Order: sequence, then structure tokens, then C-alpha cells
Amino acid sequence: MSERTLSLIKPDAVGKNKIGAILSRFEGAGLRVVAAQMLLLSPQRAREFYAVHKERPFYESLVAFMTSGPVMAQVLEGANAVEKNRELMGATDPAQAAPGTIRADFAENVEANAVHGSDSPETARAEIRFFFPDLAE
Ligand code: CMP
Repeated sequence: MSERTLSLIKPDAVGKNKIGAILSRFEGAGLRVVAAQMLLLSPQRAREFYAVHKERPFYESLVAFMTSGPVMAQVLEGANAVEKNRELMGATDPAQAAPGTIRADFAENVEANAVHGSDSPETARAEIRFFFPDLAE
């Protein structure tokens, strides 16, 4: 069954000119980009997006990183899109990410880790709404 997920290319990877290389990974794996927008998050929007992490020690640093430059937000669509995107991304910490994954190849460290992807279909719906409120569900 076709599914949608929210993907972000983070400021570190945008700064390294890797937008195309990362989108190619998604397309090569059979995921389709059905919406995309490049934008600069405000600190308030970044805090809201990562509200689930607000008690974590890295929260303010994460907000500073995510607002340090533009991000590329896209909706990916395809069979098992949530899980497939997570496999393509690899583990949160690039030091733990499997060879050939996006984070193994493009991430700097556990914070500047190149990409974000929704962790469940429920989260995907909320995160898609966050960036693309006009997208019909
Ligand atoms: P993401 O998948 O977008 O979800 C939460 C983000 O917090 C994560 O990627 C990293 O960018 C960041 N993060 C997670 N763990 C840590 C950590 N231990 N230190 C700093 N940042 C982290």
C-alpha cells in the first residue's frame, strides 16, 4: 500500500550541496517526491517541530543547528515509505549508520546528521501537515 512520509534535508547537507545526491537516493529506491519546499525555519518553528525533545539536553543546540541555514522539506510517497526512508537514512548517529546509508555518507555527527524522517505513519501525517498544510490527506 502506498504511504507518505516527511523528509528533511538538514542545514549541514544543504550547505555541502548534497540536496540532489540525497533526493537521488530516494528516487533510486522507488520513492517519489510529491511535494518539496526549501525554507529557513524560525527558532519558534524549529522548537515546535522538535517539541517532543524539549526535555533533552541537546534541544537548544538542535534548534540552533536547524535554524543555522535553509532546510529542504519533501513529502516522499511509495510502498512502506516511512520504513523505507528510515532504512535509506541509517542510524541517527552516523558513526552507527550502516555503510551506504545517507547518514553514513553525508552526516557530520549525531546532531548535524544530514536528514530527518518521520518515525511512524502517525508522525508522518502530523509532520506533513506541519510543512505542507495545504496537502490533502
Ligand atoms: P532527527 O532524526 O531529526 O531527530 C531528532 C534530532 O535530534 C536528531 O535527528 C539529531 O539531529 C538530534 N539528536 C539526536 N540525538 C542527539 C544527541 N545525542 N546530541 C545532539 N543531537 C541529537
